[in-house]
Amino acid sequence: MLTREENEMLTRVGPGTPAGELLRRYWLPVGVASELTEENPTQLVRILGETLVLFRDKRGNVGLLDDRCAHRGVSLSYGRVEERGIACAYHGWLYNTKGDCLECPAEPAGSKFCLTVKQKSYPLQKLVGLYWAYLGPEPAPLITNFDIWFRKDGHRKIFNQPQLDCNWFQAMENSMDPAHLQILHQETAGRSREIRNTTRGLTDDVEKFDFYEVPYGLMKRRVYKNGMVDEHPVLFPNVLRQGNVGQIRVPMDDTHTKVYFVRFFPTENGEIVEHDAPPVEYIKPYKNPPDAVHPYTRLRMDAVQAQDHMAWETQGPICDRTRERLSSTDRGIVMLREVTMRE
Ligand code: FES
Ligand SMILES: [Fe+2]
Repeated sequence: MLTREENEMLTRVGPGTPAGELLRRYWLPVGVASELTEENPTQLVRILGETLVLFRDKRGNVGLLDDRCAHRGVSLSYGRVEERGIACAYHGWLYNTKGDCLECPAEPAGSKFCLTVKQKSYPLQKLVGLYWAYLGPEPAPLITNFDIWFRKDGHRKIFNQPQLDCNWFQAMENSMDPAHLQILHQETAGRSREIRNTTRGLTDDVEKFDFYEVPYGLMKRRVYKNGMVDEHPVLFPNVLRQGNVGQIRVPMDDTHTKVYFVRFFPTENGEIVEHDAPPVEYIKPYKNPPDAVHPYTRLRMDAVQAQDHMAWETQGPICDRTRERLSSTDRGIVMLREVTMRE
């Protein structure tokens, strides 16, 4: 059980909050690169409680700016792009990808006023078919050198998951909760084995669970009675690694999370792939109606990810951890909370 203050500390992600500042020390995906085209050159981005605009100018430069125009606050996501940048739809103030204001059309000819205007911009880079942004203090670190992002001997595919309508930390705690696999996902985990007792699911297959810290995050480990061992690390702070899949959870704000899966497919003979251009699969909503939250929607229970979304969203927009009863298998969750608070 946590105090209200501790719960706030782990879950609030806006500027100036402890978790928000921690997450701002990492590069985070803000969009699918192939979605930004000449026909659709602007995209609104919600990340860590900020509203930003991702855009591509007519020279092909891509930028990420505060969406709120410095002039009088209109959304730049409605702006028009040209060779030099993006012009606000309201009065045409023009910004380049660095956030410099290049022109304020209605000012008198020869006015240098635009030189005094600066729009907030963030560093951006493209990796595994996604644009990644860094919202923290300079200098920006490198993107962590995880093999699934950087290995050259294979292809990648992006699975763009439906928006998760709850706080990011619920998904992260689930990644350190090994016991739910044998219950929540029993049909899948059992690979259509007959399950005699659906309350216990496959729990009796398991000998023990272990948890430990590793240099890149936290490990959860299942040891089965048949000797099999299963390890799925959390790549701190916001990625679950499962086999060759990286499940990236990007907090949009305190109660919404964007989820991308990046799956790596190694080539059979170790052959190097020079220009990997990951295709994108858009996953259909796991609930109906898709834009409502529990208890005003119904989540599907027929697939692993849908089951996880059910577990995460029905804990509430921000799970109230002042009202919980942790048990012995929740040791990993306690460890994740401690490490997150420490960092
Ligand atoms: S509000 Fe953007 S140019 Fe006026
Ligand atoms: Fe799960």
